[in-house]
Amino acid sequence: MKRVGILTSGGDCQGLNSAIRGVAKGLYNKFAKDEIEIYGIMDGYRGLICGEYRKMEKNEFSGILTRGGTILGTSRQPFKLMRVVDENSVDKVKAMKDNYEKLKLDCLVILGGNGTQKTANLLREEGLNVVSLPKTIDNDLWGTDMTFGFQSAVDIATNVIDCIHTTATSHGRVFIIELMGHKAGWLALHAGIAGGADVILIPEIPYDIKKVIKVVKSRNKEGKNFSIIAVAEGAMSKEIAKMKKKERKEALANIKPSVAYKIAEEVEQATGQETRVAVPGHIQRGGSPCPYDRMLSTRFGVAAAQLIIDENYGNMVALVNNEIVPVPLSEIAGKLKTVPTDSPIIQNARDLGISFGD
Ligand code: F6P
Repeated sequence: MKRVGILTSGGDCQGLNSAIRGVAKGLYNKFAKDEIEIYGIMDGYRGLICGEYRKMEKNEFSGILTRGGTILGTSRQPFKLMRVVDENSVDKVKAMKDNYEKLKLDCLVILGGNGTQKTANLLREEGLNVVSLPKTIDNDLWGTDMTFGFQSAVDIATNVIDCIHTTATSHGRVFIIELMGHKAGWLALHAGIAGGADVILIPEIPYDIKKVIKVVKSRNKEGKNFSIIAVAEGAMSKEIAKMKKKERKEALANIKPSVAYKIAEEVEQATGQETRVAVPGHIQRGGSPCPYDRMLSTRFGVAAAQLIIDENYGNMVALVNNEIVPVPLSEIAGKLKTVPTDSPIIQNARDLGISFGD
């Protein structure tokens, strides 16, 4: 008998349910009916800490391939607080281990982004058998070329830029479109190129506002009455990038309501051109996964099930050079995959005439 727990943690994204389905079907199809039990742990690590879980039935994993969000619920449980005993005197790590033991689990399957992978590694260090899957629209997980959720978010963000294009041209306006991505610029970079943005600002390449303004002005001189600027939510100016870590954190937190509005104000003031902001926000994480993510998350799920069958624990399934492989959690946890500034994608964009404001 194999007893497997499964949880989804951190911000949701498209493809979580298809990944859960992949894990479940991958297991049910390898074991006889009475040889496998799957336990759904509710709302991420919160459910493991509080003991909120239930035995899932096989049919609960059917009909969820195209459904957005997560059938298990999710929550944010910051890694840095995992070892901190909370106000109710709960030792979270001990509670998670106790519930794992109570359920007599052979393995815990964990679907999540950066913080989630760090806690997965902590649980591995504590002696639990874990297998994890890389999810996030930010695509910023070390060890995998691609996370599921990313391509669906790129689709949505690109569609936003497409829609803004038509209104921007009609009105002759500058539009600043702020895209998610946390501290990484993958989403803004991919959607920016796919949507034909004139300027793409990402955290990895600090911008000089004068260069951004120059692009808008020279486009006007060429007779182009509109400009599209795709900005990653974590983008920062050269001045802020130069600051020491603590100062920089404060300066970024003081930009209200967000970087797109600051840039819009500066561009409008310098060019006199009507400037608007569009922030799609959590829409980028919502709805049905695109076919690429259905495929990737399903493959990740089936690969995770195989790792459980092989008792090959302590790994995250990853996409490396188009192959699904296990990567040790100890090697990837806590590392951020940002956009390399010498990435060929950046060079392609530059060759196309896209400005990064540098
Ligand atoms: O990590 C996914 C993400 O959507 C980031 O792009 C964004 O910065 C963050 O989560 C938003 O977090 P929340 O859903 O907690 O507002």
